[in-house]
Amino acid sequence: FRPTDFSQQLLAWYGQSGRNLPWRNTRDPYRIWLSEIMLQQTTVSAVIDYYQRFLEKFPTVETLAATSLEHVIDLWAGLGYYSRARNLHTAAKMVVEQFHGRFPEDVESLQQLPGVGRSTAGAISALAFDQRAAILDGNVRRVLCRLFALQEPPRSSQAEKQLWRWSEQLTPAEQVHDYTQAIMDLGAMICVPRNPLCHQCPAVGICQAHKLELAQSLPLKGAS
Ligand code: ADE
Repeated sequence: FRPTDFSQQLLAWYGQSGRNLPWRNTRDPYRIWLSEIMLQQTTVSAVIDYYQRFLEKFPTVETLAATSLEHVIDLWAGLGYYSRARNLHTAAKMVVEQFHGRFPEDVESLQQLPGVGRSTAGAISALAFDQRAAILDGNVRRVLCRLFALQEPPRSSQAEKQLWRWSEQLTPAEQVHDYTQAIMDLGAMICVPRNPLCHQCPAVGICQAHKLELAQSLPLKGAS
């Protein structure tokens, strides 16, 4: 199949069925960065309240950079993985001091910020700046393993390389913001770890795992 077969079907489905989450109504890189850091190891439902409270206290990267680490940790209490809060504070100061208060748009520069790996950098670049940047988080990894019926452990370095290549090939040149939200929703709502809802999937016609009746058994164990 052609990459556009996938992205077009996915975008149409997202228009009908996508979730309306608080960080989706903004293009502010500060808000998108904050949401992506919170969502790294925490579920959407747990993040929503924290995200909104955090933004009431720290509406801009400048306000976050100017506060004390203690204050940040206080607001983070309950979310877990506190290194994220420390990295958040350090990164905010970096954005203010090194990038003059403006988040960089490209993946390489974004990855200089502590706590921002390749996938988070891709998400910020795609969601805030509509740049053609790929992501590979847990949801997308599972979607791609099934779409291409990858029959090896998805965390092996060879598989990782292949998965990134696929993610890059499938990412369209336009509507990158919506496409990126859409593929995350597909993984979270349809292409779920157990009992995927293939009969509701916009990609059922091109999914190799579905064709081979492997959707239940992929990705291979050891996946996230
Ligand atoms: N997980 C990581 N980033 C996300 C986002 N922007 N929306 C929903 N789930 C996510």
